[in-house]
Amino acid sequence: MIDLQERVNSDHDTVIIPLTPKDLEMNLRALANSFSVNEDFLQSEFKAEKKEIHSFFAKKKVILMGLGENPKIHEIGKFCRSLAFSQRNKLAKSKIAFVLNDSFFEENVLFDAIESLASNFLLAFYELGKLKTENTDKLNIEFAGKLSFVIDTKFYKNAEKAIEKAKILAEVQQKVFDLVNLPANVLDSVVFSEKMQESGMKYGYEVRVFHKEEIEKMGMNLLLAVNQGSHIPPTFTVMEYKPKSEKKLPKVALLGKGVTFDTGGVSIKDSNNMYFMKCDMAGAAAVAGALEAVARLKLPVHLFGIVPSTDNMVSSKAVVPSAIVKSYSGLSVEIIDTDAEGRLILADGLGYIAKNIEPDVIIDLATLTGSCIMALGYAAAGMFTENEELAQKLYNSGQKTGEKVWRLPLWEEYGASLKSDMADIKNLGAPVAGAASAAKFLEKFTQKHSAWAHLDVAGVTFTDNEFGSQRNATAYGVRLLIDYLENL
Ligand code: BES
Ligand code: ZN
Ligand code: ZN
Repeated sequence: MIDLQERVNSDHDTVIIPLTPKDLEMNLRALANSFSVNEDFLQSEFKAEKKEIHSFFAKKKVILMGLGENPKIHEIGKFCRSLAFSQRNKLAKSKIAFVLNDSFFEENVLFDAIESLASNFLLAFYELGKLKTENTDKLNIEFAGKLSFVIDTKFYKNAEKAIEKAKILAEVQQKVFDLVNLPANVLDSVVFSEKMQESGMKYGYEVRVFHKEEIEKMGMNLLLAVNQGSHIPPTFTVMEYKPKSEKKLPKVALLGKGVTFDTGGVSIKDSNNMYFMKCDMAGAAAVAGALEAVARLKLPVHLFGIVPSTDNMVSSKAVVPSAIVKSYSGLSVEIIDTDAEGRLILADGLGYIAKNIEPDVIIDLATLTGSCIMALGYAAAGMFTENEELAQKLYNSGQKTGEKVWRLPLWEEYGASLKSDMADIKNLGAPVAGAASAAKFLEKFTQKHSAWAHLDVAGVTFTDNEFGSQRNATAYGVRLLIDYLENL
């Protein structure tokens, strides 16, 4: 489906050339000559500015892709996805050659660029309308046209690796899109856990699903409390990837909020756009995606993925505000607001990790608070950690992948409002800085772990974008986590 070639040939009907202004300047004559167009005319029509597209026919269809000065690799990729998406019905039937220019041959960026272009090209063929009866598009990753990269043969070996990685990441991201986009009547906690099991079987990592009875026996009463109003049982999934290795591998645990639908429970949400709350398991979907990607890329890390999952429903059996519940880790929690359910199930997840896994690093991802969206909008996840090294590494990975994080404080002040007169802690803090008090709540269940980071991903996992008319999934977290784990 994706191959490497030395030159554009008669096989190709579409040529895509990404160019910075400098590349354009240096190659103007060659470009004009090879497509038999006038140099001055080309120069006046196309400046290679950021996001500029210029298409023309010269035996083949030629698409010049403007990159602007010093483009970041993830920006090039994102632009490629937009471009391919906007023409995907045509491109699905095309034989496309990406011609990579001089600027890509410096500092090993060539392979990152190939990976980013290829995977984003494939992402453009993601099909949101899988449940439509008359799905005329029927597009998916297999229909992405025939794609080649035109590069020097001496780069083939590394380019092949880059393409392999691109395919894996694009497939994983597409799976994560589905997990998040599918509604809760299709993807409930049980189906979600089955999907994780299938992936583990297919790609050779361990997946154990604890069902309601075992969850009861273990005493994960916070997960059970959130689940109390539902007719669908909760699941608690533990994934483990452990490659064979002589060396001692770093042990990392990822934890994801897996609320398949959040009505708010008895503290019910406004019904305006409540359907967005099918995205409340996006943190867990990213964790599931990361496990699959790490296993398929065979990264040298001993990785755990923990997913407590349930919906948060209203019914006569639902847990009521004022309930006091004993957590897995032993602390009692006064539930003041049943809509602050994410921190409850995560508390049991953190308790499980601290007691049974004892990893070197814990990272949790959760669509936890609207307050985080107030603080950072849709541009970055809120990152809470006291560990400088972990903060720096996650920040770097965010900058590199475009899945940005921005650090917010875990100061003592934010925890003060969680004091309960009746229990060890209550689940609702002050009406201001809600993302920080939520993080302080979680911190209580980490057993003072020295390398824990909480990522509040409420604003970044499910957004308005050009790929749909309604909000849809971004697979935020997959690339961030993979980059972090590659650079441990
Ligand atoms: N799932 C929501 C947070 C959320 C909001 C995710 C918007 C994605 C988009 C979470 O469970 C929630 O309801 N949080 C409350 C907390 C409050 C009750 C302390 C919130 O943010 O309003
Ligand atoms: Zn909620
Ligand atoms: Zn929620």
